[in-house]
Amino acid sequence: MPDVRRALAALLWLAAASAAAERPILYPADLGATCVDVSGYPAELRAAYEDIVVTKCAICHTPARVLYSPLLELPPDEAAAFTRAHPAETADPRVLAVRPKAFVGYLKQMWQRPPCCSLCPVFSKAEISAVWKFLVYDAKVRKTGDRLAEFVTVRKALIQRFDRLEETEERHANADDGHAAAGRGDRGGGD
Ligand code: HEC
Repeated sequence: MPDVRRALAALLWLAAASAAAERPILYPADLGATCVDVSGYPAELRAAYEDIVVTKCAICHTPARVLYSPLLELPPDEAAAFTRAHPAETADPRVLAVRPKAFVGYLKQMWQRPPCCSLCPVFSKAEISAVWKFLVYDAKVRKTGDRLAEFVTVRKALIQRFDRLEETEERHANADDGHAAAGRGDRGGGD
């Protein structure tokens, strides 16, 4: 019996892993780690992470797009002070984007989004508010203070890998152009 359970667990893991592998890499953050250590966070925020961020929010993109986004939300005066104190780290918004409403704006869109298919989740106002609290707290923990330098290094590495990936894909696309053009011609006139 335990063997059957283990086999089943392995199958589920494979299904999840292949679903994750199929999600396209559209942003540098998509190449980041898909989980972070939240063991020291307040219980309410750990619950938002476990029950919403790494599950419901991870249906369209992996949690990496959320966890490794450049966004850092601080109140306006704190954001201005942070930017003044860290000119090098905040010079490129692709690396670190400090904005007073960084997450609020995105989450408002998510909350107002109508259901589009049977897979895409919809979010209650309470869920959005819980996720917002998590994102603001988590970004402050991992993207400021003595972890700022580490985050900037990781973001730069992700951007570099992403740009290289894009270049490689462009090269492949150009190399395939001849075949693709012939293929398009063949398929063209159908219906
Ligand atoms: C319906 C599909 C879908 C769901 C569900 C979804 N997202 Fe996204 N998310 C996207 C798309 C598409 C983008 C990239 C375009 C954009 O920024 O709107 C994105 C981008 C992001 C970004 C990156 C923004 C940036 O500028 O780097 C964050 C952060 C994010 N999502 C967080 C979340 C959170 C948190 C949830 C759960 C509340 C969530 N997403 C659920 C589709 C989704």
